[in-house]
Amino acid sequence: MDKVLRFGVSIPKELVRAFDARIRGKGYSNRSEAIRDIMRDYLVEGEWESGQGEVVGTVTIVYDHHVRELSNVLTNLQHGFHDAILCTTHVHLDEHNCLEVVVVKGTSEQVRAIADRLISTRGVKHGKLVCTTSGECLR
Ligand code: NI
Repeated sequence: MDKVLRFGVSIPKELVRAFDARIRGKGYSNRSEAIRDIMRDYLVEGEWESGQGEVVGTVTIVYDHHVRELSNVLTNLQHGFHDAILCTTHVHLDEHNCLEVVVVKGTSEQVRAIADRLISTRGVKHGKLVCTTSGECLR
């Protein structure tokens, strides 16, 4: 494991109290682990902003498969991006609604473009892109 570096930081008391209350509610057992996670999240955000290298995203969409041609349109779209799409999981939520999680790898621009296309497809009821990382920037 990498060496641990300890450092002092000056933070207003009220800010620390509010932070501690929030991380306790989230289940963190100590402040360090919460700060490490926030730092990692900040680095992943930077990875997406830089546009350099490969990132990973998951696109979650919910749609009604009874909407005419929608399933075909979504499948054709995904075939068009087969180089970047790692996998797709489909769940039949009920008689009408389907949920799909599409895992996409590429530059942040590519991943966002694929997510935008899927989410904006007519008939998709809800969609969300979660921007994460291949892990390379978080050694
Ligand atoms: Ni389905």
